[in-house]
Amino acid sequence: SGRRGLVIGNWKMNMSIEEAALLFEGMKGEAPACDVAVCPPFPLLYPVKVMLAQFQDQIVLGAQNMHWADQGAHTGEVSASMLKELDCRYVILGHSERRQAGETDEEVNLKVKQALSEGLQPVLCVGETKEEREQGRSGEVVISQLHAGLDGVENVNSVVVAYEPVWAIGTGLAATPEQAQDVHRTIRQTLTNQFGDAAARVPLLYGGSVKADNALSLAVMDDIDGALVGGASLIAVEFKGVIDGF
Ligand code: G3H
Repeated sequence: SGRRGLVIGNWKMNMSIEEAALLFEGMKGEAPACDVAVCPPFPLLYPVKVMLAQFQDQIVLGAQNMHWADQGAHTGEVSASMLKELDCRYVILGHSERRQAGETDEEVNLKVKQALSEGLQPVLCVGETKEEREQGRSGEVVISQLHAGLDGVENVNSVVVAYEPVWAIGTGLAATPEQAQDVHRTIRQTLTNQFGDAAARVPLLYGGSVKADNALSLAVMDDIDGALVGGASLIAVEFKGVIDGF
């Protein structure tokens, strides 16, 4: 495809400072052939930033969420500029676990626009539930989340999209490469309709039970450019295996 692979680890609400240090100890070795990022919980961003110095930009930092406002009275929230100051390159936005907790398409859209204007790369997450898949509505749901999430975005150059079918997250039941490619093609087409040729350069990540032993079968598909990895990103040998697949 000409697109460079991108593997992002989403630690979710896991890991201590000590566990993070052990993980990176196990990740030392050959330079990865693709781009790699880890997204720790907020309290670990600074210690992990320090630990990543040993990898000389071969593993970069991302965050799992942020607020859309520049600053102000938003107790418990963090801003894009705070993430930038810690050298975050990416920020995951609209993860299904946050949508299930009440985050709306409109909020995700405000966050995407704020991330872009502050120089962060949003990793916009989309994906259908099990019920929606069974109703044959996967494509429709993903298209609607993309339209809403990217409303008013003019330049797609810094955007990353992650397709995460809710039924595949943390279940050990990954989408088949064909199921994932099918939705990724729909995503690429939807982006092309909105952004033209630039859509061909947008990294499309698959997420949902990606592990060392299924990464390669996903990576060979035309529109699967990388992975958003949860559980397997907490285990050095598994995360390395996924990276090697891309
Ligand atoms: O953001 C990551 C995804 O939710 C996937 O999680 O790899 O544990 O299934 P998982």
